Amino acid sequence: MSWNFSTADTQKGRVAIVTGANTGLGFATATGLVRLGASVVLASRSEQRLAQAASKIRALYPQADLLCRQIDLGDLSSVRGFAEAFLRTHDRLDLLINNAGIMMTPYQLTPDGFERQLAVNYIGHFALTDHLLPLINATSNARIVTLSSLAHNWWKIQLDDLHFTSGYTARRAYGQSKLACLMFSYELARRLEQAGSKTRSVAAHPGFSSTSLFRDMPKIARVLMPLVTQSARDGALPILYAALGEDVKTGDYCGPSGFTQYWGPPARVFSSKASKDQQVAAQLWEATMRMITAS
Ligand SMILES: NC(=O)c1ccc[n+]([C@@H]2O[C@H](COP(=O)([O-])OP(=O)(O)OC[C@H]3O[C@@H](n4cnc5c(N)ncnc54)[C@H](OP(=O)(O)O)[C@@H]3O)[C@@H](O)[C@H]2O)c1
Repeated sequence: MSWNFSTADTQKGRVAIVTGANTGLGFATATGLVRLGASVVLASRSEQRLAQAASKIRALYPQADLLCRQIDLGDLSSVRGFAEAFLRTHDRLDLLINNAGIMMTPYQLTPDGFERQLAVNYIGHFALTDHLLPLINATSNARIVTLSSLAHNWWKIQLDDLHFTSGYTARRAYGQSKLACLMFSYELARRLEQAGSKTRSVAAHPGFSSTSLFRDMPKIARVLMPLVTQSARDGALPILYAALGEDVKTGDYCGPSGFTQYWGPPARVFSSKASKDQQVAAQLWEATMRMITAS
């Protein structure tokens, strides 16, 4: 039977961070974790939207243990500030859900000089994980869940031009960023295992889910989207399965089990051959480490 709430363990006493938690899949994931009793830090870029999300969750679960914390994943100084504040106030981190994302936005560089989709979707989460890893490793049975997408098939890792100094297309840059997230999750699993850590690194994707992610897509695609998408609540199930499923191992990839992974109950799923290239993953890791330490 697929993972579902009725068979899930209580999360009472456990602490989770969900990035991009004010709406869409992050909101549904955070709500699911609250339902199971976890203390959840809702992390996103707008204080106001975070407060609104917290109110909505409290309306459903009045006992919810929630904190709202601002983070801009497209700005490494904000990521550092968020992590430092969290480390000052918490002595455990059981679940880090690297969920926030943007899709197919016009070309833009972040304050650190990074292509924006790569920065928000991938580099910011890489840096966040790096800052929090000692605490995660010190917490027993902890997991790091990183969001990828079917779009990881759309492009490659441009090791010689990660930030698109030429040839930018919004689709390619989104594809690269989501392939980077997936390769990061796999590479992190390998590195954690080699270091003897019990922390699990698991990737997840929600198939096609109805959220505001598609706001920069052409109008025709946005009009047709509801015909092929599942709800954000259903799209969050593979994320919750990746975070909580007992049979999920480090290095797994979880997604919907239905037609071409578009929708359906959560399961462990396959990813592209390119996503499994360990040489590219190691080179990407080193390049990203240089980027986050230089900024
Ligand atoms: N929906 C799908 O079908 C689908 C498919 C495959 C993968 N995914 C992945 O699922 C994840 C969640 O997407 P979604 O569909 O739930 O999209 P969404 O509804 O647009 O939510 C994205 C979340 O990320 C936050 N965010 C955006 N930029 C940020 C930044 N610079 N710093 C911090 N937070 C930021 C947003 O905050 P604001 O509200 O302030 O913008 C929002 O909370 C993404 O990683 C996406 O790539 C989604």
